[in-house]
Amino acid sequence: MIEPTPIDGRPSEAEDGRRLVVTDPADDAVVGEVPAMGAKETRRAIDAAAAALEGWRRETAASRAAAIARWAALLRRDGDLLAELLVREQGKPIGEARGEVEYAASFLDAAAAEGPRLHGAIVPAADPTRRIFVWPEPLGVAAVITPWNFPLAMVARKVGPALAVGCTVVLKPDQRTPIAALRAVALAAEAGVPAGVLNAVTGEPAPIGEALLDDPRVRVLSFTGSTAVGQALMAKAARHLAKPCLELGGHAPFLVFDDADLDRAIAGAVASKFRNAGQTCICANRFLVQEGIAEAFVDGLARRAAELVVGRGIDPRTRIGPLIDDAGVAKVRGHLEDALAQGARVRCGGASPRFPGLADRFVAPTVLDGLDPSMRMWREETFGPIAAVRRFRGEAEAIELANDSPSGLAAYLFTRDASRLMRVAERLECGIVGANDATPSAAEAPFGGVKRSGFGREGGHWGLEEFASLKYLAWGV
Ligand code: SIN
Repeated sequence: MIEPTPIDGRPSEAEDGRRLVVTDPADDAVVGEVPAMGAKETRRAIDAAAAALEGWRRETAASRAAAIARWAALLRRDGDLLAELLVREQGKPIGEARGEVEYAASFLDAAAAEGPRLHGAIVPAADPTRRIFVWPEPLGVAAVITPWNFPLAMVARKVGPALAVGCTVVLKPDQRTPIAALRAVALAAEAGVPAGVLNAVTGEPAPIGEALLDDPRVRVLSFTGSTAVGQALMAKAARHLAKPCLELGGHAPFLVFDDADLDRAIAGAVASKFRNAGQTCICANRFLVQEGIAEAFVDGLARRAAELVVGRGIDPRTRIGPLIDDAGVAKVRGHLEDALAQGARVRCGGASPRFPGLADRFVAPTVLDGLDPSMRMWREETFGPIAAVRRFRGEAEAIELANDSPSGLAAYLFTRDASRLMRVAERLECGIVGANDATPSAAEAPFGGVKRSGFGREGGHWGLEEFASLKYLAWGV
C-alpha cells in the first residue's frame, strides 16, 4: 500500500490533481503513484510546520526522544515491508535493503539518545558582575531533501535529529523513490509525532526546492545529493540565510599498502565498491595500490567481483541490482568506454548483462587495471560497479594521488603499520577515513565531507547540532 503524502497530518494531493508515477528500475513496472506537488503545496507544508513549531519545541527533550524511539521500533516492526519497498523503488538487493532499514532505525536510536543530552553551559564571565548562560534552541522549520540511493536511511539520519532538537520539518524525498519515505512518515505519526511536525511534499525537485528556500520561515536546509544540486540549493538558501548542511558527492580513494592484510583489503574493496551497485557517496572510486601487492590485489578483487550475482534485487542471491535510471547507466558506461579507450585493461566484467523482461540497466561488476588521471573516472564520481586500480610506489605519491580530487568525503587506507596509518590518515583531505575498515558509516559518528563534498555533519550529537542555534544570556548581577 502506498501511504498518502501528509501535510499537517492530512493526506494531501497536488492542487491540480497531477500524480507522479514511481517505477521499478529493474523492469519499469509501476510501483505506485504519489502527488506531483509544487510551490503551492510546499507553502502549505511550511505553514503547517511553522504553526506546529511552538508546540513541538516546548515539549521536553525526553518526550520528543520517546516519540523518536517509538518511531525506530515501528521501522523495525515493518522492516520486511520497508525492505521490499526499497528493493522495488530503488533496485538494491534485498539483503542490503534489510540492512538499510536497520541503519535507518539506528539513526533514530541515536537521535533519541542524544536529544536529551544536548545541553548548554554556564560560562565563568570575565566581569565579576556578570553571569553567562548558554543554551541550544531549535533553528525552526527545517527543509529536508533526501536522495534516492538510501531512500529510508537518509530520512531517518536527517529528520530524527531535527525532531530531537525541536525543529519541525518539511521533507522532500527524491521523486524516484518517495514510497518508503512516505511509509516512514506515516510511522512517525503512529509513533506520536504530532500533526504538522513532520510534513512531506512529493514531486519534481525544482519548484519544491525553490518554494522551500524562498520562504524566510525555513531556517535550515539539510540536503544529500550531487555537488551541482547542492551548490544551486546553497545559492537559493543564501536568500534568507537558511543554514545549509550539505552532504554532497564523494570520490573516495582506496589506498592499499604493501604491508596490508591482503584478504581484508580485498573483502573491504568488495564491500565498499559494490554496495548498492556502487551508488553510494562514500564508495571507493579510485583504487591506489602499492606496486608490491598490486598484482595479488587486482587478481583477488577480480575473482571476488566475478562471483557477485547480478540481477533483480528481490532475488536473495543478487549482489548487484540495476542502476537507478538511464542517465546513471549512460554515465557509468561512458566512464567505462572512456577508460578503455585510454588504455585501461579489463580484469573482470566490462559487460552489460541483459535479462529477458528486464530493463537494460545492469552493469556487471568490473575491475579495471591501469587507472590514469586523464580518465573521466579519475575526476568524476562514477556511481556504478566499476573498480579501477592505479599502482603507486611510495607513501608520498599515494597521498598526492589520493588528494588529487575536488571532493573529500571518504577515503580508505589499508596497512598494518600503525604509524603510517596515522600519518596518512592525517594528511588525507576528507571527512571520513576508513582505516582497515571499508564500511565506516555509523549512526554515532559524524558523517560528512570537506571540499566539494560539502559541510555539516550527520550522526551522533553532531547531527543534532546542525539543527540548533546557541543563545546566551549575559546577566548583570
Ligand atoms: C550516501 O551514499 O549518501 C550514504 C552512505 C552511507 O551512509 O554509508
